[in-house]
Amino acid sequence: MIPREVIEDIVARSEIEQVIGSYVTLKRAGSNLNGLCPFHSEKSPSFTVFPNTQSFYCFGCSAGGDVITFIERAEHLDYIGAVEFLAARAGIDIPQDGKGSGPGRKNELTRRRVCEMNLAAAKFFRQCLFDPAIGGEAMRYLSEQRRLSGATIKHFGLGYAPATFGMLTDYMHKLGYTDEELITAFLCGKSQKTGRAYDYFRNRVMFPIIDTSGNIIAFGGRVMDDSKPKYLNSSDTPAFKKSRNLFALNYARNHCEEFMILCEGYMDVIALHAAGFENAVATLGTAITAEQARIFAKYTKKVIISYDSDEAGQRAANRAMQQLGEVGIDVRVLQMNGAKDPDEYIKLYGADKFRRLLSVSRTGFAYKSEQILAKYDIETPEGRIAASGECCQLISEYNSGVEREVYIGQISQRLNLSTDVLKGRVDQLLRKRIKESREAQSRRAQADIRGVGDRINPDTIKNVQASSAESVVLGLLMIFDEYRSSVLSGEVALCEDDFFTAFGKRAFTAIMELQKAPTGYAHALLGQNFSPEEMGRLQQMEQQRRALSRNGPEVFRQSAAALKDAKARSDGRASEDVLSSIADILARKAVKNSKNTPAQ
Ligand code: UTP
Ligand code: MN
Repeated sequence: MIPREVIEDIVARSEIEQVIGSYVTLKRAGSNLNGLCPFHSEKSPSFTVFPNTQSFYCFGCSAGGDVITFIERAEHLDYIGAVEFLAARAGIDIPQDGKGSGPGRKNELTRRRVCEMNLAAAKFFRQCLFDPAIGGEAMRYLSEQRRLSGATIKHFGLGYAPATFGMLTDYMHKLGYTDEELITAFLCGKSQKTGRAYDYFRNRVMFPIIDTSGNIIAFGGRVMDDSKPKYLNSSDTPAFKKSRNLFALNYARNHCEEFMILCEGYMDVIALHAAGFENAVATLGTAITAEQARIFAKYTKKVIISYDSDEAGQRAANRAMQQLGEVGIDVRVLQMNGAKDPDEYIKLYGADKFRRLLSVSRTGFAYKSEQILAKYDIETPEGRIAASGECCQLISEYNSGVEREVYIGQISQRLNLSTDVLKGRVDQLLRKRIKESREAQSRRAQADIRGVGDRINPDTIKNVQASSAESVVLGLLMIFDEYRSSVLSGEVALCEDDFFTAFGKRAFTAIMELQKAPTGYAHALLGQNFSPEEMGRLQQMEQQRRALSRNGPEVFRQSAAALKDAKARSDGRASEDVLSSIADILARKAVKNSKNTPAQ
């Protein structure tokens, strides 16, 4: 059992908008935030985060709950697992029963401890690089082959992992770190034979990955020849998730008012910074994630994608454009000829030429429409028809009317077609898209109303009136302390038996049990008794109440009365049924008897 105060502390230090923001691209809408639901597939955002109540709810699929519920679903963990996950994220030690906070299970090794180990390892790697007997070749590789200055090498904290299996491990042992800790931090591998730790990075130049607070959270290591894999990276640890960090953001964050540059490789970023473009960052060996797009949105308004010029790079640029566009960033794509990546380009043509490329980088639309136009021969009627169709489709995907208008103008010029014709087609496609999303939404709503597939509360369908009164009462009880108190004191008479559905009974009991405890009710603790899906239903009940302004004591009393009434009538109906069938049997018996009775 995790102590209640600890759970509450963890929840308090896990702001829901930040936690969810690293999974979902959120846009502010009044006091709430909206985004695309991570739990079902949708095109228009019906997923809402409510910072005021630290809760979330999806109006599309009814997923909902608090920050713990979110992590349970997003990370496929149980309640305790989710609490531990959030604790590690927030750097909170969970005390083991009576044992204090010694090094516990693997995933309890906290973020802080891993960062501490990484810092020690980075110092070790740097010492090795600067020791000619050990790192001579690596230093030559960096300074001669890659042409990095001593200042740049120091600025990025580069190092060298020697070609041995034990030098780092021994060094770290002397500092008091155990095999288990080193393995968890991904500084060491675990020998299959002996189970002992051995150096994970060997004979590689080392790139520390540093977060915006200056912690070394991971490493990338590059071979110095053509052997494979070219780069080895730390896997995810309690201190590091590659989908949520960017290389060199620790520096770039101070140079990003105007725009940021997104590249593919560590070496690109280092070359760009060295050439004066200190707003460059890279993802960590993966395609850009929604979480990373969110990070960009936090720091800047505009991103220039500067990926490799090969086909893979350009495909990746398309995806990046979409991710960044979704968070409202003005995205440009840099077109580079005569070099495979920014690092090579700068070496060949210099910083000024690269600056010029930045200034003529194209908007996402220009880039994508060029790709479409290049596919067709727009001198032929067939080519123009096909190209205009695809361009209209592309334009219809923009939600802003102004943007659509501007792009229609551009395409009209390129294809020499009237704007009216194009606008007609775009509007048609747009209407189709809106209609489809409305239909999908209403299908879901209808299924909800009919109670079809309601696995969470299958009793709902048996008495819609009683179930909806029940939702109102439970919603109010979860929101307002005073109503819970009034039930506890008996001022409002309400008991488990008054509830109609089995789920309602359970919810009522769980809420009141928490209320009875000396420390009182806490929403975060409710999750101990309910699955994430059930938490979603409870959240829906709260949500429906919060959406209404009338939630005063008279509403609570009336709803409680309505619930009892509906329940009583429903029970009454059942007893009437029994009575009438008894009457029926008696009546039939009477007929039988009268038949058997000889006529008098
Ligand atoms: P690149 O191969 O373009 O790397 O991969 P680069 O940084 O330009 O390296 P140089 O110039 O050849 O030295 C882009 C990024 O993809 C990840 C790394 O983050 C790299 O910087 N990557 C690449 C890996 O994680 N593993 C690999 O084996 C290769
Ligand atoms: Mn490169």
